[in-house]
Formats: sequence, C-alpha cells, structure tokens
Amino acid sequence: MAASTRMAVLVIGLAALVAVSTHPATAEEKAAQLTIKADQGRETINRNIYGHFSEHLGRCIYGGYWVEPNSPIPNTRGIRNDVVQALRAIKIPVLRWPGGCFADEYHWRDGIGPHQKRPTMVNTHWGGVTENNHFGTHEFMDLCEQLGCEPYICGNLGSGTVEEMADWIEYITFDGKSPMADLRRQNGREQPWKLKYFGVGNENWGCGGNMTPQFYADQYRRYQTYVRNFGENRISKIACGPSGPNYDWTEVVMREIAGGRRPMMWGLAPHYYCGSGRKSRSATEFTEVDWSWQLRNALRIEELLNRHIEIMDKYDSNKRVAIAFDEWGAWHAVEPGTNPGFLYQQNSLRDAMVAGLTLNIFNNHCDRVKMANIAQTVNVLQAMILTDGPKMLLTPTYYVYHLYTVHHDARLLPTELSGPEYAFEADKLPAMNVSASQDSNGKIHVSLCNIDPHASVSVKAQVQGFTPNKIAGQILTAGEITAHNTFENANVVQPAPFSDAKVTEGGFEAKLPAKSVVVLEIEK
Ligand code: AHR
Repeated sequence: MAASTRMAVLVIGLAALVAVSTHPATAEEKAAQLTIKADQGRETINRNIYGHFSEHLGRCIYGGYWVEPNSPIPNTRGIRNDVVQALRAIKIPVLRWPGGCFADEYHWRDGIGPHQKRPTMVNTHWGGVTENNHFGTHEFMDLCEQLGCEPYICGNLGSGTVEEMADWIEYITFDGKSPMADLRRQNGREQPWKLKYFGVGNENWGCGGNMTPQFYADQYRRYQTYVRNFGENRISKIACGPSGPNYDWTEVVMREIAGGRRPMMWGLAPHYYCGSGRKSRSATEFTEVDWSWQLRNALRIEELLNRHIEIMDKYDSNKRVAIAFDEWGAWHAVEPGTNPGFLYQQNSLRDAMVAGLTLNIFNNHCDRVKMANIAQTVNVLQAMILTDGPKMLLTPTYYVYHLYTVHHDARLLPTELSGPEYAFEADKLPAMNVSASQDSNGKIHVSLCNIDPHASVSVKAQVQGFTPNKIAGQILTAGEITAHNTFENANVVQPAPFSDAKVTEGGFEAKLPAKSVVVLEIEK
C-alpha cells in the first residue's frame, strides 16, 4: 500500500476506521510556531526505538501469546494468531524476553525439550504462581520469526552462572558440532538462530541481585567475556542501566565498561516508569490532577536522558555506546479484582499521550537512543493488546505505535517549537511536543502531541529546504481524558482521518484539538 494511502486509511485487523465525532467544542485556542529543518538532520531514527518487552509475568506470555497448540483459540504452534497479526501491523522491530526481574531467576535449560518433561518453577516475583516452562527458547524464537522481529534475550547474571549464560549462547547460535548445538538439534532445531541483542542481567541494582554499580560492572566484565560470537552471528551486548535518576550507576558502569579503547558493551539500558496519577492510581478513573501529574512525569524522561547522556559523553564522546531504554511506560493500579502480582491495567487516552510524548523524545535523541522497549506488549502494564480468553482488543497506546510507524528508520529532522503552556494548578507544562522525520521516499512526517485537555492549538509551521504541496494526517483523540477501549466497546479510542491541516507558503498550518496526538504526512 502506498504510504499516502496508509495515512488516509489504517488497516488494523478487525478495527475499521470511523471519524471521531464526540469532541466537545473546545473553548480556548492557543497558538504555536514550528520550524522543521528539512535541510538538516543526519541521524536515523532506529526502528528499534519502537521495540517491545514481554516477561513471564501475569498473562503476558501465558494467555497473551501462548495458548498451547491444542487450544481452540486460533494459533500457530501454540502462539495466538490474532496477537501476532496485530503486532505485525505495528511492525514490531524487536522483542525483549524473558524479563524483567524474571530473567535473573530464569534457567533456560528448564524451558527446552518436550513440554511434559519440563520442570516447573515458582515465579516468585510475579504472583508466586507456578511457571510450567512451556514457553521457552524455541517458542520465543518461533514467536520472533512469526512476528518478523529481532529477538533480544536478557540473560541471568543475578542467580545464574557464567557457564549457564555461555551455554545458552552456544545453544542458540552455534552451527557446528558441540554439546549445546547437538542438544538444540535433539530438540528439533537443526539450524542455529541469529541472535543480535543480548542483555547481561536486568535491574541488577534491585531484583537482579541488589548489586552496587562497581560490583555489577565487575560481574558484567566477567560474564560478557563468555557471550561469544559463533560463526557469523554478532551479538550486541547490553548492560544493565540506571533506574530513573541514578546517575551514579551510569557514571560507574560507563567508567568501568565503556571507558577503554573498546567498550565491552553495545548499549546501556536505563529503566524509567512514569507512574500513574497523583490522587488516583486507577488507569481509567482519574481527573485532571492525575492527567497533568502523569504527563509531567512522562515528560521528565527528557531531563533523565539529557543527564545520563552527559555522563555517557564523558566516557564515550564518539557515541559508540547506545542507549537501549529497555523498560519504560505508565504503571497504574491493577484492574479491580485481578491478581496484584499480574500488573494487568487498562489503557486510556492518557496512556496514548504518554506514548506519543515519549516516542517523540526518543526520536529527538536518536543519536544515542538506538532501542527502547515499552513494558509490556500484552496484558501487562502499558500494553498494546489486552486479551480475555479468545477476545482481544487494541489499546490507545497501540494506535500511537501504529501512527508512528512512519518514523521507523527515517531521517530525523531537527525542529524548533515555540508553543503555549498547559497550566494546571501550580504546574506548568509545555502543551505541545513534536518530532519530525523524512522517509526514504522524501515524505515528511510530523508527530504532534497537544496535552492540554481544554485548548486547541493552532500550529503555524515553516519547513526549511522543502516546498510542501500536499498534506494529510491521522488523529488520535476522544471526548474524555479517561476514554479507553473495552471488550464490550473496543473502538472508543482509535485513529481517524485528520483534515484540519493545510499547506501554506513554505510550510503548513494545523489546528490540533485538545488532548490529541496527530501525525501529518507532507509531500512535495
Ligand atoms: O516490568 C515490570 C518489572 O519492572 C520488571 O520485571 C522489572 O525489570 C521492573 O522493575
């Protein structure tokens, strides 16, 4: 499908597009000026910024992806077809697995061989439930093949041995004759898989062993030595990064691991969850105090990035080490009546806004941020997809990912935005947030978020070095800040064609409704 048609009509499984008709007329109107520098910009927005993370947690793997091959739910070798189809539609580029905290307790040998012979374990972090290990290495690699995405495996440094980690790599990637490669063949996989991304532990400052940064750095150096490149497979190693503003962690890890002539890591993986509301932690029952609080905390990721990058620059001025922001997102109270250890939460227009803002910020830092993985794809935290038995729904966050596919591997265009503030009580936030890119066909895409729930913003834009001739767009908004999709009413929040934009001399004008995410496509 031509990209222009794609912008006009999003084909997303069962969801048909409808124009959003429920916007109340917004009383206020504000103005913003935007400059897009199409004559500048050398960095590519790595599509892996649009990556995902799925852990053995609650109903993410079991029920979310995995239903067993004999399930009445349509599946391919035990993996749900509807979920695969929906994730393919957002061009999922990379998937991180098996954790999270689960990774540092996971012993991969428990998850290979005939299902009925696999030992069980207790998932101590997440609900204390019994894990049957039916979803293991082969099933994960099969899932990635079905999704058409890169696998990113997180290894066990917290409670596993160096030998165990080394053997896993050999099992997955070694082509010749060896004990691990033979074991893989015995389990039905003749050819090795390609494995590009491997994490050496997860949150080792916390659930992954409560380590100091110095101790982790020393452990990392040792473990990563045995994460070998077999044959033509080349592994990009990812070190555990800081939690939010833990700048000391970044300082020590960068100094000890990346400071030398050749960094021992490809990427550093910070984590940041922007929490929930101030008064209410409910995903769907909240008021403006919670909306502004959550979005303020989401916007804070920019400051965190800038400060971590400043430290990274000190040890790695050539930017050889990437940021792989491999856990981020909103974290609300679980849905009433669900297991508190399963982290099952709903997803509203506010979550879509969190996604839109954060992805814009990642795009704008794409010289360092080469990967990011929102937590956690299906049924857990800020998910793309919720399932209930055979039923499946797409969340508002999913639709942001769908709209933003136009930025995958496109050239980042620098932008300058001078816009209004959104004020709530004593809090003042920039109402607008933007990123822009140019794809390989020369089309420019601009993603704009207006977080003000009351005022629309009229944007006057100049595009330097480009003469716009045609403009089209898509909008994601709804009547209420709490709007969300349910199994009974799955299409409350979904994209609609956006027609409030026009080409002007050297640029364009667009009127963004209150609380909206808009993606524009501009052609010569
Ligand atoms: O995503 C849920 C949990 O949050 C992960 O397991 C852990 O890494 C983080 O604390």
